[in-house]
Amino acid sequence: MTISHVSKRSGVASSALRYYEERGLITSERSGSGHRRYPRSTLRRIAFIVFAQRIGLSLNEIKDELDKLPTHRIPTQKDWSLLSKKWLTQVDARMAELQKLRDGLESCVGCGCLSFEACHFANPEDKVSKAGSGPRYWL
Ligand code: FES
Repeated sequence: MTISHVSKRSGVASSALRYYEERGLITSERSGSGHRRYPRSTLRRIAFIVFAQRIGLSLNEIKDELDKLPTHRIPTQKDWSLLSKKWLTQVDARMAELQKLRDGLESCVGCGCLSFEACHFANPEDKVSKAGSGPRYWL
């Protein structure tokens, strides 16, 4: 696949694809005219890169994971499942954080504002401040 085809299908700009290649996250071959040609399996790598960045992994962390994939053949579902175990843990942790955030939007988060009716029950006279700074129920 050409870089513009990969860019169109993955939704990632060609400049970012070239950057991922510079960082060793994806690889390409050169055609007779010197243009990059990517195997179709690159699309899955790109999808993982984008997903992993969304859950807060750095490009270095992503590269460490993607480096575990075989390079001499197209990675199988099993190869990928070995990767995603670690990422699943991070996804679960992220989901738990988001759930806390969601819950906090409608209840006291122990931040000291005492502005909700609920604060007077959950954090009377800001008692949780004894445990430290910040939204204690979120931390
Ligand atoms: S939300 Fe701030 S102290 Fe309850």
